[in-house]
Amino acid sequence: MFIKNLSYFNFRNLIDGNLEFDKKFNLFLGKNGQGKTSVLESIYFTITGQSFRTKNIKDIIKYEKLKLATYLEYEDKFSEKNIAIKTISNKKEYFYNKKKVTYDEYLGRLNVISFIPEDINLIIGSPMNRRNFFDYEISQGNTSYYIHLKNYNKILKIRNTFFKNKDFSEIFEIYNQKFFEEIVEIVTMRYEYIKKISILLNLNYRKLFDNKSELILTYKNSFGDITKLNKNQIMKKLLEYYKKIKDKEKKYGYSLIGPQKDDFLFLLNGKEAKSFSSQGEKKSIIFALKISEIDMLIKEKSETPIFLIDDISSYFDSIRKESIIKYFENREIQLFLSSTDDLGINSKKFKIFKGDVNG
Ligand SMILES: Nc1ncnc2c1ncn2[C@@H]1O[C@H](COP(=O)(O)OP(=O)(O)OP(=O)(O)O)[C@@H](O)[C@H]1O
Ligand SMILES: [Mg+2]
Repeated sequence: MFIKNLSYFNFRNLIDGNLEFDKKFNLFLGKNGQGKTSVLESIYFTITGQSFRTKNIKDIIKYEKLKLATYLEYEDKFSEKNIAIKTISNKKEYFYNKKKVTYDEYLGRLNVISFIPEDINLIIGSPMNRRNFFDYEISQGNTSYYIHLKNYNKILKIRNTFFKNKDFSEIFEIYNQKFFEEIVEIVTMRYEYIKKISILLNLNYRKLFDNKSELILTYKNSFGDITKLNKNQIMKKLLEYYKKIKDKEKKYGYSLIGPQKDDFLFLLNGKEAKSFSSQGEKKSIIFALKISEIDMLIKEKSETPIFLIDDISSYFDSIRKESIIKYFENREIQLFLSSTDDLGINSKKFKIFKGDVNG
């Protein structure tokens, strides 16, 4: 699928406007601080309802203003559609084909993958960075994952209040049962996703950057290795683990088990990337990961996602940059790039100066 045009109102420093896009390559050019990242962010925000820079949606509303709105028209393989978001402070309203919808109904209509300098945190940052990232990515292709996760988080909160109140009555046991069921669903989906994407990741890393390396992504489940286990066996393993930590949970007063304790590791040539890989290698690992998500989304949705790359020149040397451009030239994917200098590629160019975008 591809985006035809985008309108924005009160978005960061951008002067309100409407942009018509090319089906394939779109390049945003400008000096530092002019609004390049903001344009990419406005696309990402319209598709996902989130920013790739901040958790606080108020940050993206233009200084001194209270409201923000974006509107986007796109085409999938069936027809032309549109989506829109209106925001007042932290409250968001979602629209699909001009009708108001819930976030659950909005999510995943259009898919986007972004690559921004801060993504390096996926390797060097805390496990929470990785969990948030994979949760969102799995949800994009699989709404059922998102629903399980939402249920789980609700139950987790309630379960923790039982601990706080030291209430271990029958109702606690009922919640516990539901809690375990949701854990099994979530870890199974996480495991399946990582297994698939790890294979693609290795292939893409080798193809794009270094054909002699081996890159593996592993899923570190909080209650042990679940490789090759079915759901019943996972439940058995979970309950065995629970027996061991049950008393500790009561003593500490919160849940010590569940997906909020999981982590994901990148191993380049058998060594953990976080501690051993160079800066360039880390960026390349994340890039290969994002490219692999394209293939995952195509498999799950049979549609191509939109791809955003912010500040491409600051990431890669010219050889890696060329290899990336070539990759996109050979694929039917709409790409949005930002850069401080012209990349000499065949694309629609937008010049940005003080928030004014001209294409
Ligand atoms: N909510 C906001 N309202 C108005 N302006 C903002 C807001 N948030 C950030 N800005 C400003 O918008 C400007 C553009 O920021 P942006 O990150 O898009 O620039 P950029 O072109 O990507 O720059 P760089 O090349 O340095 O990455 C900055 O000067 C920033 O301070
Ligand atoms: Mg920027």
